[in-house]
Amino acid sequence: MTDSKVFQIIAMDGGAAVGKSSTSKALAERLDLMHVDTGAHYRTLTFALLNAGAAPEAEHEIESFLKSLKLETMLQERSARLSVNGQIPEDHEIRSPQVNANVSKIAAIPAVRKSLFNYQRAQAKVAREAGFAGLIMEGRDIGSVIFPDADHRFFLDADEATRAARRAKEGLTDSIADRDKMDKARKTAPLICPEGATRVDTGHRTLEEVVNYICSLIQIQA
Ligand code: C5P
Repeated sequence: MTDSKVFQIIAMDGGAAVGKSSTSKALAERLDLMHVDTGAHYRTLTFALLNAGAAPEAEHEIESFLKSLKLETMLQERSARLSVNGQIPEDHEIRSPQVNANVSKIAAIPAVRKSLFNYQRAQAKVAREAGFAGLIMEGRDIGSVIFPDADHRFFLDADEATRAARRAKEGLTDSIADRDKMDKARKTAPLICPEGATRVDTGHRTLEEVVNYICSLIQIQA
């Protein structure tokens, strides 16, 4: 088997607080994958735009501002982080109530999505060159738009009460239902369960059970 056959791409989609990040990080550890959180990409751009004083409605202004940004990748262990003009914002900056309230509006702008498309696709090359066995990318449109050709595509879901409890436990102010509504309703790359993707209910399983279950599916599908 050649190296390119062994390298695996796993797409992990789902709404807010369904457990995408914990599941993806645990799978990355177990399967020696590079992990990319594309929610953090949209949050980072939202943070940069808000700092620059751009209003989410000012699409033309946003488009030219995006062109002035240099997007690069910095590897922190197995996590590939987006840096903008050489800076990676702190976690508390990209997960603030202000970013939570604006990120879905910014993510619905086609120019914003376009500015990340090639960058996100190129993460497969970053992972290969860094010697990982594959790439796991989490988001809303990974299995539908970014890697419709991924080796494995999963869509995580959980009941509303479990998701709200998860956010409350993290102590975050985040209107997850509003974000999901906007993410599902937008015209460009809406949040959907891509056709052919495997739906996984994370609401009634522990993290370990979810990870074991997905690993068993990956082995079957391999
Ligand atoms: O995953 P997280 O909740 O951090 O994502 C924040 C927001 O970024 C989402 O609510 C969505 O608006 C946007 N997003 C997106 N496409 C992705 C990942 C995130 O539109 N692939």
